[in-house]
Amino acid sequence: MKIARYTAYGGPETVVLEDAPIPTPGPGELLIRTRAAPVTAGDARMRSGKVPRGLGLMIRLAIGWSRPKVAPGWAFAGEVAALGFNVTTFQEGQRVFGLKGFKGGAHAEYLTIPATGAVLPLPESLSYEQGAAFFFGGLTAAEFLIDRAKLASGERLLVAGATGSVGSAAVQIARHIGAEVAATASPANHPLARQLGASEVTDYRSGPPKGPFDVILDVMGSLGWKGAKPLLSPKGRLVLITADLSEMLASALRSRRFITGTNKDDLPSMQRLIDLHKTGGYTPIVGPVLPFSQLSEAHRVAESFHKPGNLVVTMG
Ligand SMILES: NC(=O)c1ccc[n+]([C@@H]2O[C@H](COP(=O)([O-])OP(=O)(O)OC[C@H]3O[C@@H](n4cnc5c(N)ncnc54)[C@H](OP(=O)(O)O)[C@@H]3O)[C@@H](O)[C@H]2O)c1
Repeated sequence: MKIARYTAYGGPETVVLEDAPIPTPGPGELLIRTRAAPVTAGDARMRSGKVPRGLGLMIRLAIGWSRPKVAPGWAFAGEVAALGFNVTTFQEGQRVFGLKGFKGGAHAEYLTIPATGAVLPLPESLSYEQGAAFFFGGLTAAEFLIDRAKLASGERLLVAGATGSVGSAAVQIARHIGAEVAATASPANHPLARQLGASEVTDYRSGPPKGPFDVILDVMGSLGWKGAKPLLSPKGRLVLITADLSEMLASALRSRRFITGTNKDDLPSMQRLIDLHKTGGYTPIVGPVLPFSQLSEAHRVAESFHKPGNLVVTMG
């Protein structure tokens, strides 16, 4: 089978495909034949080592000093190819999706995962591409809007950067909650932002839209606290999805109104997102789809931070 590897911190050429034997599932594990996997902003950041200011040292301590020592690929959708000893909760041939998480390994034609791990049946309503696209932006948007900002029905939300992975999920989830959504996007993506449910769409290059907003979800951190504060209502909350170290420290001091951090990717969070999908609150947007053989090109697109929805590679 083909499996991806990072050779160094660097450009898209540092992710390469190599031959490897198909793994054997151990006791309690599933062997998954991967059909599709996302190439996320997180994948691109791990490969390049380019992270918001002040976080470079932390990322290198976490994933490797001289090169990323984690395997490429955070999430996957596919089918169960074989069951390890004692697995009774899945069947061969079953469609599944899930997360290999921070340590990676989803950019491979086959992968193994504990049957009790972050793997769940893929709903009939989702294709493999949609299954691959499902979790990255969706888990982030759900946690920051619902649990952290506590967005309520009738509130006014600005999603700054509304049509990428996180933004496209945030607009849908906010509309489902009953919030009114204003969005910023580059002009080519304005139709998508409206289709997702934004009632007002402007180009972020022409400045921010008119406040006040109860919640601002600043996907790329381009407004920051300084840019967002004048747009917030008296009890308004700012969520910086992309924040540097100094913003993280500042948010710790104003924690109820200024929110940063990372989201969880555990089974209850995954299940909550599936429930949101089943009640009409979220369907992932699949943007560019490339064959797995073009993984390096997929990384180039992912690190532009201008892709519509989610980028997916397919393994056939
Ligand atoms: N905190 C966490 O736990 C967490 C979780 C997930 C992601 N992230 C981070 O969140 C960011 C976005 O991830 P993503 O997957 O949504 O990326 P993405 O799919 O590439 O989307 C990026 C979005 O930002 C918009 N954008 C680009 N430059 C902008 C600017 N200067 N001002 C306003 N909007 C701008 C793009 O709009 P156009 O395409 O219309 O130009 C697009 O909608 C990344 O930095 C990622 O590392 C953090």
